[in-house]
Amino acid sequence: MRRSVWNWLFLLSSFGLILMFLVTVTQDTLPEWIRYQAEYHRRLAQVTGDRSKAFTLPKVRQIYLPEMKRVDRCITCHMGVDNPKMADQPQPYRTHPDLGIPGFLVKHPFNEIGCTVCHHGQGPATTVEHAHGPVHHWEEPLLRKGLTVAACATCHQNTRELKGAERLVQARALFVEKGCIGCHNLHGKGMLVGPELAETFGKSVGDQFDFKYVKGPHTLINWVEEHFKDPQAVVPGYPKIGVPESAMPNYGLDDEEVELLTALTLSFYLEEESEHHPIPARYRVPGTPEPEPTYTSPVERGAAVFTKLGCVGCHGPQGRGGIRNMNMDLGEEVPALTYVSDGYSKEELKAIIRDGRYPARADRHGPSPPLWMPSWKEKLTEEELDALVEYLYSLHP
Ligand code: HEC
Ligand code: HEC
Ligand code: HEC
Ligand code: HEC
Ligand code: HEC
Repeated sequence: MRRSVWNWLFLLSSFGLILMFLVTVTQDTLPEWIRYQAEYHRRLAQVTGDRSKAFTLPKVRQIYLPEMKRVDRCITCHMGVDNPKMADQPQPYRTHPDLGIPGFLVKHPFNEIGCTVCHHGQGPATTVEHAHGPVHHWEEPLLRKGLTVAACATCHQNTRELKGAERLVQARALFVEKGCIGCHNLHGKGMLVGPELAETFGKSVGDQFDFKYVKGPHTLINWVEEHFKDPQAVVPGYPKIGVPESAMPNYGLDDEEVELLTALTLSFYLEEESEHHPIPARYRVPGTPEPEPTYTSPVERGAAVFTKLGCVGCHGPQGRGGIRNMNMDLGEEVPALTYVSDGYSKEELKAIIRDGRYPARADRHGPSPPLWMPSWKEKLTEEELDALVEYLYSLHP
């Protein structure tokens, strides 16, 4: 009698052990997404009070977008994005935010445009690691929160007044303030002292960027961010063989400014139509041209031309100078323009601006200075040139 009780107990506990073993093994080997779906359905049953919801069979869910050459399986885990009942749930189950913009989710129907058009990430992947990235050979990892705004420019040609894209407006103001366009081309306009900025995020990470001096992850986003923080640290050149360090000024930008300019640079790339990621015309929102500002005096107009053309980029705010130019005579700095009215007639100034000039080297055997005075004749009208010269004359203290 006693012996058979022990036998039974032994049998039962063995069964228990085997059962526990099976549960652990399947939990560990079940694909990640199945666990997220099971948890989603459990939570859905809870918030709706409908217990049958907990027994929905798992399946990979996807938004198939042949016109955009995308397959987004993000909703395999992010199942609650369009269910308002899931607003208080943790990620990845939560309802998608509407950004405080009425109709945001209606104007951007996920089942038609997917997720990666705004968030990037690897659409077809079904694990967090692969979907969010960074993954080798997938050059568009999930954008962090502060950078998602760049993607608005993919469809909206005018982000100047777009609700939800205010950070791009802030970023553009910084871009103008620093005079980036004086050195850089953008969509084919500007100057070629530095690279075309609409191409930066279309370049190949491995071939076109040197990560030797990059401290953080070897992603394009991180290269650009570390470069904004300290261009000379990331591009030190090879001074010994005559390749100068980066000529881009170190602006001492804080993290927020770095993020803004990175989002802006990314938006320049996304603004251009791409064979890689086509956007059907019906999802593009055309822009309206910027209104022409009016000026009350030639000096005021000249100041606006000085800003628009990016003279600030090399000559500093109000032409006060101080931008470093390796191996240039006159103290290795681009000259200040404050006293040009002492040295030049208005006609002489116009000629310098029209034709540009190459600076002389401090050390004749050293590298040629990376910054030169470009020729502006194609970039401004005769009236703008007159106004610009009036402005330069007005700088005299
Ligand atoms: C295998 C499941 C899974 C897939 C597939 C998946 N995600 Fe996620 N996602 C998660 C989880 C879990 C979280 C919350 C924890 C975390 O951030 O890792 C999350 C968080 C997020 C966040 C918020 C990040 C933050 O910082 O708050 C975003 C945005 C996001 N996912 C977008 C996407 C996009 C876009 C895709 C498709 C390319 C995708 N996810 C695919 C599981 C997934
Ligand atoms: C029209 C652009 C757009 C589309 C399409 C879009 N999102 Fe978002 N999403 C945003 C923006 C903007 C935010 C705000 C936070 C940020 O900047 O990342 C956001 C936030 C999120 C978050 C984080 C929410 C939080 O509480 O912080 C997740 C997760 C997310 N989206 C997932 C998705 C998934 C999954 C899809 C596809 C079903 C999708 N998104 C489609 C623009 C979009
Ligand atoms: C896939 C293309 C696409 C992307 C990406 C996109 N939008 Fe839109 N958006 C649209 C379309 C299409 C409309 C509808 C325009 C209309 O109704 O005339 C729209 C409408 C809007 C509206 C309503 C006001 C208006 O201008 O019509 C706002 C605000 C808006 N989007 C903000 C954003 C923000 C912020 C982002 C980036 C997070 C974004 N959109 C990304 C396509 C897009
Ligand atoms: C005085 C000229 C000058 C100014 C002003 C300037 N840059 Fe640059 N920039 C360069 C040069 C030269 C390079 C190439 C060398 C290097 O990578 O550092 C460069 C490189 C870059 C790169 C890397 C691009 C690529 O495709 O490799 C980015 C991004 C960039 N600049 C953005 C900006 C922005 C944004 C501003 C304004 C805040 C700015 N630059 C102002 C000269 C300038
Ligand atoms: C890419 C850098 C760069 C930009 C942008 C730039 N300059 Fe210059 N500029 C220079 C350099 C370098 C010199 C010195 C040339 C020399 O040594 O002869 C110079 C010289 C000048 C001079 C002569 C100053 C003197 O004391 O001899 C004037 C005037 C001038 N620039 C005006 C402008 C105006 C106006 C703009 C905007 C339309 C502008 N520059 C944009 C680099 C630049």
